Amino acid sequence: MKEIKGERWGSRIGLIFAVAGNAVGLGNFLRFPAQAAQNGGGAFIIPYLVAFLLMGIPLLWVEWAIGRHGGKYGYNSTPGMFHKLGKGKYLKYIGVFGIFNNLVIAAYYCYIESWTLAYVWHSLAGTFTGLDSNAISAFFSAYLNIDNTNFINIPGTGIIFFILTLGLNLWILSKGLSKGIEIVSKIALPALILFGVILAMRAFTLDAGESGAVYDAMTGFNFLWTPKFESLSDPKVWLAAAGQIFFTLSVGMGSIHCYASYLREKDDIALNASAAGWMNEFVEIILGASIVIPISAAYLGLEWVRSNVGFEMGFRTMPSLFQNWGPVLSVIAGVVWFGLLFFAGITSSLAMGQPVMAFFQQTLNQSRKKSAVTFGILTLLLALPCILFYRMGVFGEFDYWAGTFALVVFATAEMIIFAWVFGIENAWGEIRKGADMSIPMVYKFVLKYITPIFLIAVLVGSTLKPATGDWILELTNLFNGEGWNFAADSVVGTILHIGSENLAYFANGVPTEIFFKDISRLLLSILFISLSFLTYRHWKKEESK
Ligand code: TRP
Ligand code: TRP
Repeated sequence: MKEIKGERWGSRIGLIFAVAGNAVGLGNFLRFPAQAAQNGGGAFIIPYLVAFLLMGIPLLWVEWAIGRHGGKYGYNSTPGMFHKLGKGKYLKYIGVFGIFNNLVIAAYYCYIESWTLAYVWHSLAGTFTGLDSNAISAFFSAYLNIDNTNFINIPGTGIIFFILTLGLNLWILSKGLSKGIEIVSKIALPALILFGVILAMRAFTLDAGESGAVYDAMTGFNFLWTPKFESLSDPKVWLAAAGQIFFTLSVGMGSIHCYASYLREKDDIALNASAAGWMNEFVEIILGASIVIPISAAYLGLEWVRSNVGFEMGFRTMPSLFQNWGPVLSVIAGVVWFGLLFFAGITSSLAMGQPVMAFFQQTLNQSRKKSAVTFGILTLLLALPCILFYRMGVFGEFDYWAGTFALVVFATAEMIIFAWVFGIENAWGEIRKGADMSIPMVYKFVLKYITPIFLIAVLVGSTLKPATGDWILELTNLFNGEGWNFAADSVVGTILHIGSENLAYFANGVPTEIFFKDISRLLLSILFISLSFLTYRHWKKEESK
């Protein structure tokens, strides 16, 4: 085995900032409001909080424990860490998910991150000043070069901002853990919290008739916070809530494992993991929920929000609402909002880079700088199809397969492996070793049964989801020999392109969306196989030593 690399976290506070920065990201400010609004506001919150306590928190502990345990053997990426959890030769290939997910998510995530940088610039430059909402929405489409009917979108400045963003990430990553990620996190996290508080305060005090607002911002708050208990029986809301918990906590990615592997064996994980998890929830529930929805509800009304919500709203709608605040304040609000998003984004994209780099350092014996370059080249190659074929759904495919589905697969596998293959006694001991807080005994039971069952339910639910959404009816039909109708947005339905009438790859000599979707899937499969092959080759060499 290779000697243990010397990288360590500089201080506990730096570590907390880095892991909280990892979790706090675009997901907290753009994805959470969109998910909450699409799933009925107050209907979403209860499943969301239950998923946090029964799935999020246990997964955080498990990932920190696997990471610190693997780090003890000198592994900073998941293939090696999983190899150390049991005897099975298959374990390291499960760990490949921890590289794959990060790499693919990094590609499209850095693209969104680069929009935020561009929008800081345009806010400062006064580009948006005086523009109405149509003009700003048109600006966004033009920026992405999606305002035409070509299948290819070549955004000139978009690519420049993307390269700039990626370059900045690589430069920070190449500085190393304590001199790069840690320093950046210590600046970015407090800054984004401050920016978030400023905007949330503005939202709280926005009343109808003031600053051009049509409704009270409280409309939006009430929509999000009035609990609707009927939702507890709606599987769709549960799936969405679980999905958001994964995304926002960055679990099921291999990124937390990597950060935890730079701890010392006796360092606490129980409290660190909980602190980072709760800090993320604070930012999401208090700040993330208090900006986009209340402000847009105040200007555009709840109905508009419900039917138009999506993560593009942050870019299409917010800058135009800020225009109501006058020429100076609107510039400040733009810089604060997009600056906040940029800081939130960069501390997350750094966390995607580190495990991928650690993997190449290990398997290809690369130096830190070289591995940063490798990560950069791969991210660029994967990002280009997202950028150039944005309208053809490549971005969406990457987000679905790596950013949604593979997370759940990886998390379910790791939960079962940790509690059942590594063993619950070992697992419980590992989590509590060096702990600075006592974990309620009930979590031993949760780890062994509840979380795995929860995860399997989410996985099976999203894979087999029936077209009618009515599981009982569908099961009855199945037993009556009438077969099973998959929903278009179930995993099987997505694979089969259910809901698309025409499956042709070309129409009038031009490639279709189906073509781009299938090519994206092929590309992702090749990537997964290549990473598995690297893993295979590395261990073969290790074993013959
Ligand atoms: N949690 C991040 C957010 O809320 C997003 C994220 C997804 C992430 N996967 C990750 C961050 C992997 C770091 C590593 O936006
Ligand atoms: N699927 C998300 C939605 O439509 C969009 C999304 C994916 C997203 N990845 C993201 C939003 C990262 C913000 C950040 O709501």
